[in-house]
Amino acid sequence: MNILITGGAGYIGSHVAKQLLETTSYNIIILDNLSTGSIKTLDTLKAIREFKFIQLDLKEFDEINNVLKENKINTIIHFAASIVVPESVENPLKYYMNNTVNTTNLIKCAVENNVSKFIFSSTAAVYGEPTNIPENGIDETYPTNPINPYGMSKLMSEKVLQDTASVNDDFKYVIFRYFNVAGADINYEDDKLTPRIGQSFPNATHLIKIVSECATGERDKMSIFGDDFDTKDGTGVRDYIHVDDLADAHIKAIKYLDNNISEIFNAGYGKGYSVKEVIEVAKKAANANFQVNITSRRAGDPAILISDNRKIKSKMSWTPKYEKLELICKSAYEWENRLGENIK
Ligand code: UD1
Repeated sequence: MNILITGGAGYIGSHVAKQLLETTSYNIIILDNLSTGSIKTLDTLKAIREFKFIQLDLKEFDEINNVLKENKINTIIHFAASIVVPESVENPLKYYMNNTVNTTNLIKCAVENNVSKFIFSSTAAVYGEPTNIPENGIDETYPTNPINPYGMSKLMSEKVLQDTASVNDDFKYVIFRYFNVAGADINYEDDKLTPRIGQSFPNATHLIKIVSECATGERDKMSIFGDDFDTKDGTGVRDYIHVDDLADAHIKAIKYLDNNISEIFNAGYGKGYSVKEVIEVAKKAANANFQVNITSRRAGDPAILISDNRKIKSKMSWTPKYEKLELICKSAYEWENRLGENIK
């Protein structure tokens, strides 16, 4: 099997590549334009097992077609995308071009080159700002209503995939709607948690990355964006999923499509933690303290986002291993430490 991973030098793509290199003998081809992906991550992956790396932007339509043809690709796992929500509001065309247009072209090339499986990174941002959250969280039938171009660019890509698969019997997809992905490679050296890869891109806006930067001393303080939400302690509640558990779902999706129809799955643990809880747990995990201010809400932040994950658990037999928030925070912190030591 020849698998193309777009965005394989990025955060989530590299964790999927790591697991494929470690646990399978599939032939792996990573495609990345290295705009946010890390060359050092690719070197780390090469130490696990050899693979082919192609530095190419997805907008190079003709070349993408050649890559699929020449490498006889039969499975695509597509991560490459722009992912910063506020940027998507300021520059929507960047998001519709990089995400929707480039994904559409990739799907077209895939069908024309007899690719049979397409695994796509979507996001809980397709649900927008959910109002009445069911007791078990948001399931895959919950109405989609993105409130920013990022979420819309992903939802439009989902539709292109669905419509294409509906008229091409030999082309199947799995769409994963990620909740809040966090943490880093669970790897122990001399009994010490020593992540080899993690979130490398600077200027991240995500909570656990920011908390980790505070814990290492790289950043001196942080803000909680609002403590007046209708939640347990007034701060926003999210469903944090460890990147290695998410990666495992992608590996399972490859086999899943051998005997099952195309499907959309939420990817989350179905358990919510508030911003205050995350900060407390992270401080403890890192044995660190830092200043935390309360500021006003960030535009477009829903109060609560928790997945109903019963579908992925039952249909894919997905059993998460790293659900403990402390381990998620600890791995993110240890990775941040290593970044500081220039293991970027
Ligand atoms: C963000 C995106 C979402 C995307 C997801 C994964 C926004 C509005 N949403 O989710 O569309 O699918 O990443 O890429 O950008 N927080 C603080 N202080 C901080 C940082 C965050 O209080 O310095 C709070 C936020 O208000 C939120 C929670 O922490 O309540 C999580 O925030 P974040 O990690 O940025 O993820 P989301 O906004 O949930």
